[in-house]
Amino acid sequence: MEIYHEIDAVQKKAMTLMREGKSIGFVPTMGYLHEGHVDLIKEARKENDFVILSIFVNPLQFGEGEDLDHYPRDEEHDKNISKENGVDLIFLPTKDTMYPNPLSIQMTVTRRADVLCGRSRPGHFEGVVTVLAKLFNICQPTRAYFGMKDAQQVAVVDALIQDYNFPVRLVPVPTVRESDGLAKSSRNVNLSKEERREAPAIQQGLQMGRQMVQEGIMDPQQVIEATREFLENETHGKIDYIELLSYPDLKPVERINQQVILAAAVYFERARLIDNVVFDQN
Ligand code: PAJ
Repeated sequence: MEIYHEIDAVQKKAMTLMREGKSIGFVPTMGYLHEGHVDLIKEARKENDFVILSIFVNPLQFGEGEDLDHYPRDEEHDKNISKENGVDLIFLPTKDTMYPNPLSIQMTVTRRADVLCGRSRPGHFEGVVTVLAKLFNICQPTRAYFGMKDAQQVAVVDALIQDYNFPVRLVPVPTVRESDGLAKSSRNVNLSKEERREAPAIQQGLQMGRQMVQEGIMDPQQVIEATREFLENETHGKIDYIELLSYPDLKPVERINQQVILAAAVYFERARLIDNVVFDQN
């Protein structure tokens, strides 16, 4: 496994691979790798000749007062996990390498970002698409792997690829969970013992909402309110949002008669957790 810090070197490598007719699978991450990331690597490994993983805690996607300074990091652990799972190249740039100058051209996300995490985290998805546009140009992937844990991110990246014709195939990968249902996240280490016990309620509440739809309740408000009540009873966390929207368009729906996402975000003392279920009415 090779570790590259410079943009030019990665671009050259990608171009050589392309000339050789080799496919590149790309897994963008912010590091502190866990089993969720590992599933993305495994999928990429299965489907491509060469696998690139990037580790970059992108300051642009963190807002004021968010956890940029506390974002967990462990480079050695990440290198070991990557090696064990067959990554060929890690791209590990510094902030100055990625953003040597203030950007002269800024991207604005005009759809799919005014709801869910986009509403709670203004500027977040602008930061995500900016870094991904750069990373796609640097790594030149055939396929890029993203977790459905961040379903809104998948929807926004889908729009980025379509709108700007990146020659990349987006591959969504199902959410990897702890045995009690809690979605794996780098932020779970910031939960207290009690919060960790309560946190699986997020997925339970969302599954309950999905069940209601499957039993014939097609009114989104009713589903949202029942999920809210469940979460308020089962956790001490403060609910940031519970929303039910069409997926991947992320538009409000009056009745559930297409594919939808039911998603929640909950603030605990030192971590904000998100989770979702995507399903249709059947
Ligand atoms: P990060 O939070 O490190 O996540 C990297 C990838 O791992 C994302 O596609 C995310 O959805 C996926 N992932 C995280 N937890 C997962 C889980 N439990 N199951 C499946 N996949 C999971 O998302 C980012 O980084 C950044 O926004 C990034 C795309 C790298 C841009 O900076």
